[in-house]
Amino acid sequence: MRLRRRRAITSMEGKRYSVSGPKGLPFIGFAKQALQSPLQMTLELSQNYGDIIPLTVMGQRVIQLNHPDLIRYVLVDNHKNYKKSSPYIRFESVLGKGLFTSEGEKWRRDQQKIQPMFKREQLEGYYFDVMDEIVEKFKRRWFGLIAAGDGRINITSEMADITLEIVAKLVFGRHHITDQMVADIHHAYDVFMDYLKNVRLFPTLDLRKAFRMPSYGVFSRELAGMKTLFTELLTRCKKGGQEDRLNMMALLVEAQKSDPEHFTDEDILDQCFTVIFAGFESTSILMQWMWKALDERPDVKEKIRQDIRQHAPYLFAQAGGEFCHQDLSRMDYLTAFFHESTRLYPPFWITGRQPINDDWLGDYRVKKGTVIVLPHFAMHRHPRYWKDPNALIPERFLPLADVAYDAGIFFPFSHGPRKCSGNKLTEMEAKIVFAKLLPLFDALILNSALNGPQGGISLKPAQPLRAELRRCAAP
Ligand code: HEM
Repeated sequence: MRLRRRRAITSMEGKRYSVSGPKGLPFIGFAKQALQSPLQMTLELSQNYGDIIPLTVMGQRVIQLNHPDLIRYVLVDNHKNYKKSSPYIRFESVLGKGLFTSEGEKWRRDQQKIQPMFKREQLEGYYFDVMDEIVEKFKRRWFGLIAAGDGRINITSEMADITLEIVAKLVFGRHHITDQMVADIHHAYDVFMDYLKNVRLFPTLDLRKAFRMPSYGVFSRELAGMKTLFTELLTRCKKGGQEDRLNMMALLVEAQKSDPEHFTDEDILDQCFTVIFAGFESTSILMQWMWKALDERPDVKEKIRQDIRQHAPYLFAQAGGEFCHQDLSRMDYLTAFFHESTRLYPPFWITGRQPINDDWLGDYRVKKGTVIVLPHFAMHRHPRYWKDPNALIPERFLPLADVAYDAGIFFPFSHGPRKCSGNKLTEMEAKIVFAKLLPLFDALILNSALNGPQGGISLKPAQPLRAELRRCAAP
């Protein structure tokens, strides 16, 4: 049956988009490249082929989008016709039906329940205080290391430790989480990510589970352990007093009261898993890139320090001072550096969608079930849309630049209804970390050369970043 061209919705109606892509091997198509160097592959495709790039990967039809109109169309204008692509199904084994993986009516209902967790008052109040407290602890630790003559640190694990402690305390409350629990969650996270690492290529095929292989046993034991821990914390939270009612789990328990039938304890646990696992490593990875970028660009580092000095000079004293959200929010250059870092190093470097019904991308017919690749990294560095695309230029994002980047060109946190719920939280967290640590420390990266981005599940440096920590000279 011929599909009739549907009228409507699209802002790109009547436009023609170029369609071209390379020819892959029979059946496996581009599976080899997708497995060996997926980041390079999406980048090369985007710089050498059309607006719509059709491919085949292991018999599956795939289209990489390479035009902002088309990306905006899928994420925003006609989002109702697009569900998350098949790899997300495998993430359900850990995240359950949390906000990241759920669809349709369930997603809509849960989204409303979750809104209070990301409200401005929460961010600027409880979350700011928790972050400030934890970064202060790390600041003292770093001073201690330098004083002991042991300033060699692993930036990758330092950032992971800060972000995990923060997110765990935001979710469960600062008085309910011990260092041991944070370490256990970290260990479980590593096991889960290792188990899921090839999920993009084999989204529906889980041979290890089908054949009950030992790695599946390790995975399931860790998962069961985490479920037990989260369930205990939920029980404690429900019994808890008034002293800590602002953590995310407590807000979810509150939301449950108005709709216990549709928002069960299991739903609460899924949302907690989701926030921890969607929010931990992504933020940590971004901050690693930020340290590396600053090491490479002392001029940018100096401008950020000037910005901090202007709005919160007390942060240059070892003892610090009463840091408040208002001071942080005035730091425009630091904010611009944050956005520029998400452009150059989007931790979610690629995401995917599948049309629920056949659709048209301009004049190109796309069949239901086709995997649509949204290449964040490639679009963020596309020479057609960015001047000097590979250079770190925070000025692009200064309010004075007065530029609003198109949703299809700059989308580190995605766009439309499924945009990241934690984007503001991440921004505040990264800014607190740099506002508090940069005035006092230099981190000289020891293995920067050849340590470029690797496109696994997220965009990591090839090797953990090692650094020599030095006390920054007084201004
Ligand atoms: C640098 C840090 C982060 C980046 C780059 C990032 C990026 C993203 C992206 C691209 C999506 C959309 C995925 C898709 O639609 O396929 C997403 C969704 C989501 N993120 Fe984040 N994220 C970050 C941090 C966080 C944090 C800290 C939290 C929570 C505290 C969080 C919670 C979520 C949730 C709940 C969703 C699902 C939203 C929905 O579908 O309604 N993220 N994130």
